[in-house]
Amino acid sequence: MASSPNSPFPCHEHRVSIIGGGKVGSTLAQRVAEKNLADVVLLDVVEGMPQGIALDLLEARGVERHDSQIIGTNDYADTAGSDVVVITAGIPRKPGMSRDELLKINAKIVFEAAKKAIAHSPDALLIVVTNPLDVVTYLAWQASNLSPRRVMGMAGILDSARFQTFIAMELGVSTADVQALVLGGHGDLMVPLPRYSTVGGIPITELMDAATIERLIERTRNGGAEIVELMRTGGAYYAPASSACLMVEAILHNQSRQVPVAAYLQGEYGLEDIFIGVPCRVGCRGVEQVLELNLTDAERSALQKSAESVRQSVQQATALLGNN
Ligand code: NAI
Ligand code: 2OP
Repeated sequence: MASSPNSPFPCHEHRVSIIGGGKVGSTLAQRVAEKNLADVVLLDVVEGMPQGIALDLLEARGVERHDSQIIGTNDYADTAGSDVVVITAGIPRKPGMSRDELLKINAKIVFEAAKKAIAHSPDALLIVVTNPLDVVTYLAWQASNLSPRRVMGMAGILDSARFQTFIAMELGVSTADVQALVLGGHGDLMVPLPRYSTVGGIPITELMDAATIERLIERTRNGGAEIVELMRTGGAYYAPASSACLMVEAILHNQSRQVPVAAYLQGEYGLEDIFIGVPCRVGCRGVEQVLELNLTDAERSALQKSAESVRQSVQQATALLGNN
């Protein structure tokens, strides 16, 4: 890949472009750089801001001991040749703003970002983070013209990490011994799966009563809102950036990680033409495989309900974009 034209620094084999240099985007830039995964291009519409963040991150290189080049820009031309593009651009919901208004604004931002970024990096894989996640991932795929296996939304890793954390806290065990799985859309209708969530290989249904599990599920569903309520000035970004970074690493290091991501379904789980959270193998080609779990009737119908809500929002967003 090309380094910045006048860069005196060595450059990595890989380039990751992050569209949106806000909390999630800048924290992801830090994670990618400090893990020495790739050179990073951070793009935002605000002039000077991504350049300032990039310089600040660059000045930590000697202390953090990594070799990543970090460029801040307002110009998509600087993202050319990216291996991975991550879209975190968008606006948060403001007081008095309806869900429709937020959907319309973020749908337009993500659609245009995907189109412009992939025009400069046609061989890239695309990861979407902006909300409403499953809806805008679908729009980003449409805008990009990429094969659907090269497009993914990040949410299931975050939601599962939250469930994992709450299980570990409840039982007083190491988080390292907990595996948790959350499927479905990234919203109130997400589908945490206790049967597939384990501590040292033992399903949590053997370790906790139903009421306790339900309480942890509710906290997981409310995970984003709980942090907004506490912070008041914005939403979560550390765990979201870590979760997106896991996907970037899985791709760049071709790790074949088995994780839940918003992937395009073509009949799996009885669902078609939709991006929604399901367990996948993620590697250098993107979604290498969608894993179809055996679900109970209740779990399957919860996933279908979540998918129905995503589908309605996609139709709404498409209409809103069309009316522009
Ligand atoms: P933020 O407000 O800190 O950053 C958003 C950035 O996007 C701002 O710097 C803004 O200038 C930039 N931006 C706006 N329009 C743009 C455009 N057209 N092109 C390029 N940049 C543009 O927000 P934060 O906290 O970083 O969150 C970003 C998004 O990620 C939000 O939609 C949020 O809801 C979502 N999110 C999703 C999660 C998930 O699990 N999928 C988890 C956490 C956040
Ligand atoms: C989160 O789950 C709001 O999607 C964001 O933290």
